[in-house]
Amino acid sequence: MAILITGGCGYIGSHTVIEMVKAGYDVVILDNFYNSKPEALRRTRELAGRDVPFYECDIRDAEGLRRIFREQSIDAVIHFAGLKAVGESVQKPLAYYDNNVGGTVVLCQVMAEFGCKRMVFSSSATVYGMNNPSPLKEDMPTGAVTNPYGRTKYIIEEILKDVCVSDKDWSVVLLRYFNPIGAHESGRIGEDPNGIPNNLMPYITQVAIGKLPRLSVYGDDYDTHDGTGVRDYIHVVDLAAGHVKAVDYALGHSGAEVFNLGTGNGYSVLDLVHAFEKASGVAIPYAIAPRRAGDIATCYSDPSKAERVLGWKAARGVDEMCRDSWRWQSGNPRGYDQ
Ligand code: NAD
Ligand code: UD1
Repeated sequence: MAILITGGCGYIGSHTVIEMVKAGYDVVILDNFYNSKPEALRRTRELAGRDVPFYECDIRDAEGLRRIFREQSIDAVIHFAGLKAVGESVQKPLAYYDNNVGGTVVLCQVMAEFGCKRMVFSSSATVYGMNNPSPLKEDMPTGAVTNPYGRTKYIIEEILKDVCVSDKDWSVVLLRYFNPIGAHESGRIGEDPNGIPNNLMPYITQVAIGKLPRLSVYGDDYDTHDGTGVRDYIHVVDLAAGHVKAVDYALGHSGAEVFNLGTGNGYSVLDLVHAFEKASGVAIPYAIAPRRAGDIATCYSDPSKAERVLGWKAARGVDEMCRDSWRWQSGNPRGYDQ
């Protein structure tokens, strides 16, 4: 009995591999290295303390997937593989629909062929769109998304719900992540974005190591306590632990179930900058810049359903998130490039 982890060499996937192994699961990793590096796999195996089986494979390659299902006894899939850059998705929508939506359809078809009908899927708080007030709850309306990336997450959620309606043997857990930051406490694995980061924490850490001159704070006139955008940052290891609970749940239930994975706490951009400065001892120069298109003022979760049903709750606070992001970045200024 093993769990297949697609995108298992990526940021969240690599941390999840380690938590799953720690919890006693056998895991098999699939990745095409589109947005990750073999060095991430090497270090993940090192931290997991075992030679986890790996397949270099694209989720759109049905024959490649069949080989994995023939060679391994897969009971469930944690499905991380996908493209995730919001701006790029506006430029290349077809690549996003092909990879994220098309890839998920192929994966589900091959799973069904082999009688494997349990999946934990990486969705996003982005499916709540612009119109819902925080704290966001799982039963709020979804779909008013503002970019193709977000739309792929919404469409995949709907596809997976339809699959569960069509066949009662399917069990799908849709996890809506808030803003994952932080890194494994060893400092050996973490987020390694290509080029200039789009997201706040990797931008801050690259300013801290001197790779970028200063942070642009996108807007200081939002209706928040200091005018800057408020988000629900969650430590990636807490997020990874949520996947262990989600797999436990998927193995014992049928149908589709949705859970927020967040802390329930909102921090502004400047709150995070100051928390990072405190944790690292490094000053972060910043300048106020215009709002970024598509951003909302405030986005944080109501995480109570995950606690009630899965028995999962985030344990790490913002200081630990900043400390671990900094340990990873300062110890690996060039990420996985040696
Ligand atoms: P990531 O890019 O670090 O990891 C994704 C991995 O999937 C990469 O290793 C990449 O090489 C692989 N991959 C992409 N397309 C593939 C394909 N067609 N076949 C095989 N492998 C493929 O991203 P992440 O931050 O770890 O995110 C994991 C998942 O969680 C994604 O689906 C993402 O959309 C979702 N998510 C991420 C965030 C976030 O802030 N990081 C927030 C919400 C949701
Ligand atoms: C972004 C994506 C969202 C995705 C999420 C994953 C956009 C519009 N949204 O969300 O779809 O699910 O990442 O984590 O890209 N900020 C700055 N300066 C920066 C970078 C960010 O001030 O250089 C601010 C943003 O305006 C925001 C906050 O920091 O208020 C967090 O931004 P970010 O890390 O990009 O995450 P989200 O915008 O929440």
